Amino acid sequence: MNILVTGGAGYIGSHTCVELLNAGYDIVVVDNLDNSCIKAIDAVKRLTGKDFKFYEYDLLDRENLEKVFAENKIDAVIHFAGLKAVGESTQIPLRYYHNNITGTLILMDLMEKYDVNNIVFSSSATVYGMPKTVPITEDFPLSTTNPYGSTKLMIEQIMTDAQKANSKLSVTLLRYFNPIGAHKSGELGEDPKGIPNNLLPYVAQVAVGKLEKVHVFGNDYPTPDGTGVRDYIHVVDLALGHLKAIEHCSDKSGVHIYNLGTGNGYSVLQIIDAFSKACGKELPYQIDPRRPGDIAECYADATKAKNELGWVAERGIAEMCEDSWRWQSTHPNGFED
Ligand code: NAD
Ligand code: UD1
Repeated sequence: MNILVTGGAGYIGSHTCVELLNAGYDIVVVDNLDNSCIKAIDAVKRLTGKDFKFYEYDLLDRENLEKVFAENKIDAVIHFAGLKAVGESTQIPLRYYHNNITGTLILMDLMEKYDVNNIVFSSSATVYGMPKTVPITEDFPLSTTNPYGSTKLMIEQIMTDAQKANSKLSVTLLRYFNPIGAHKSGELGEDPKGIPNNLLPYVAQVAVGKLEKVHVFGNDYPTPDGTGVRDYIHVVDLALGHLKAIEHCSDKSGVHIYNLGTGNGYSVLQIIDAFSKACGKELPYQIDPRRPGDIAECYADATKAKNELGWVAERGIAEMCEDSWRWQSTHPNGFED
């Protein structure tokens, strides 16, 4: 099976490419390298000992994207490509809507033209907005609080409508919780540009001495230690979820929706503690006010993925932090090192 991976040079995409190649799939990767580096593609080739075609194309460039479909027989698409920074999406919303939505429309239009009827999409737990209770199941009400989240929800709707009009189409919407960790080799990992917004990369940069201390956003939430609770999932477990989705859903037309999380919640202070153990030193932190828009607790009920895909996240929080640390300590400046 030949899989087109959009955004395959990015954090989750590159880890998924490794697992796809190791499992014997052929892949073709399209990425404009807007938020990634060609060295990630080199690392995927090195780690797997396999070669594949990489196209440095933008999904918005229909003419070039069509060449990918014309030159390769594509059986399925895993669609990671998109802009993903929540804060930035509130500053440049039009760019987010154009990139994420127009990019998806062009991609799906070409899929239709070339009779490709199988797509797996990177959605997010952000489509649950401010959930009233936890754990979150797939049938919870959907809403969004920022333009990034809105692009995810709109794309889910677009794909669902496209499926209604084309009964051959298989659409799998994977709602990720909080991906962290890195490849065991230490050669692939998250490489955020500028100061990280997300907790894990921030903590990792404190550990490596690039940032002074962790700012804990609020300790007055109704959680066991007062800090925010999230469902952190190892990026390799997440990658393997995509293989299960391809395996189980590609021959079943319809819309398939799965939460990909561990089902466990960890607080900010528990994460700082786990990372301190992984790197062997106490990490300094200070308590700051809450970050506007944050929720107290967010974790998945991932039973549906377990029952229907036979997928469960196997890697625990200690392993996630150890793998993150291996990548961060050997690549303090990401792929530049
Ligand atoms: P990432 O930024 O590392 O990867 C996305 C890749 O898409 C990048 O390599 C970028 O260069 C590429 N890209 C963006 N726009 C493009 C375009 N128009 N044409 C071609 N390539 C383009 O992000 P990631 O963390 O690997 O996330 C992958 C997907 O998963 C995204 O869609 C993201 O919204 C979604 N997601 C991520 C998280 C997370 O916490 N990392 C959580 C939920 C969902
Ligand atoms: C963020 C995004 C969300 C996205 C998710 C996964 C926001 C508002 N939301 O959510 O849309 O789906 O990432 O990529 O950006 N924290 C600190 N200090 C920090 C950073 C974070 O205390 O420097 C806390 C937060 O308050 C939260 C937890 O750590 O309680 C996790 O934060 P983060 O990594 O940003 O993820 P989410 O808030 O879940």
